[in-house]
Amino acid sequence: MKILIIGGGGREHALAWRLSRSALVKGIVASPGNPGIAELATCVPAPENVSGYLHIAATYSIDLTIVGPEAPLVAGVVDVFQRASRKIIGPTRAAARLEASKLFAKKFFARAGIPTARARESWNEFAFPVVIKADGLAAGKGVVIAQNRIEAERAIEQLGPHVVIEEFLEGEEVSFIALSNGEMILPFAPTQDHKRIFDGDRGPNTGGMGAYCDPRILTSQESGDIMERIMLPAIRQMRKEGNPFTGFLYAGLMMTTEGPKVLEFNVRLGDPETQALMHNFRGDFAEVLTLTEAGPETVYPQSWADCSLCVVLAAQGYPERPRVGDLITGIAEAEAAGAIAFHAGTVKRNGELLTNGGRVLGVTSGGETLQEAINNAYKAVGKIHFDGMQYRKDIGQKGLRRW
Ligand code: AMP
Ligand code: GLY
Repeated sequence: MKILIIGGGGREHALAWRLSRSALVKGIVASPGNPGIAELATCVPAPENVSGYLHIAATYSIDLTIVGPEAPLVAGVVDVFQRASRKIIGPTRAAARLEASKLFAKKFFARAGIPTARARESWNEFAFPVVIKADGLAAGKGVVIAQNRIEAERAIEQLGPHVVIEEFLEGEEVSFIALSNGEMILPFAPTQDHKRIFDGDRGPNTGGMGAYCDPRILTSQESGDIMERIMLPAIRQMRKEGNPFTGFLYAGLMMTTEGPKVLEFNVRLGDPETQALMHNFRGDFAEVLTLTEAGPETVYPQSWADCSLCVVLAAQGYPERPRVGDLITGIAEAEAAGAIAFHAGTVKRNGELLTNGGRVLGVTSGGETLQEAINNAYKAVGKIHFDGMQYRKDIGQKGLRRW
């Protein structure tokens, strides 16, 4: 089969890399792709609107399309494909509201009985800190944890009138991602992201500075709990409301003393969680994707026995104002050491690879243990250079502390 991947970041490079190893996949097209993806696929510039992707799918005789980022989903790319009877994996625009609107999501959790932070009309109903979230898509910048009255007032000024106000939850964050065909769901191994820019979870939030995949992040009891209390109720309720959820459902969870609670739903794969997931996946991922057409009882046997780790190398000035145009060297040496450098913000100009965004590369490696995956990934990071390169030195450490 021929696959179209919509997007051009590290997540999409990881998907292209994993799918390029599938016996079922005969060709990959990416739009827009990036210089790393271009080594595995045909890259086509992003069209002006989501209908343009349908045109690309027709031109390249694509059998199946997968969507990386949220923006085309929220713009209705799945609806466009479904109307034309073309296969695509992702939620419709209506179902994508689970990510696009925090107010919609919060009311949905209540209707579905899904555990989440208690929400209130006003911040003065809680003890501080309180969490204030902008309603719409905000690329990780729409959440303020206010420690006092002044910060809460400032946050509301800054985020505008459409906000969700909720209690602050304590615990460990876990990314739990599953693939659904609207009826059944196939859970992937748990992952953990590192959202803050600096070591020790300090500094401003980013898109994600690194992630690791280790089956031991959750006990089987905890995974079962998440499926029973969160993932399955979500799929059932969406179907009941006439918006069946198809595609990747990503629950950002807080593991609290009262059990798992949802911080947010995303309607797509995570970035950089996908880099770790694809690296650690054993099997044919194209087979997993075709599961969306299979019957509700199908369960695909997956193996996630090992560990993997992705370290994001970011540009100087990220996340506020990343500098672009710095020369990148050492990728071949890093990959000779057994890692893969997934491209995120890179561009090729006159044969040179330059930085072209905030998150530049996701250096990913694996191991039988988390410690081994950490060692392998950081060894590869040490081979790569660009001016102003910044990365966290502690990706995966919270996983080690648990054991
Ligand atoms: P979100 O976009 O909702 O995932 O929020 C971004 C980040 O803010 C999360 O990854 C958490 O670290 C933090 N956060 C969001 N909601 C809460 C909450 N209710 N309690 C504690 N931390 C939160
Ligand atoms: N890694 C967080 C996200 O993809 O939203």
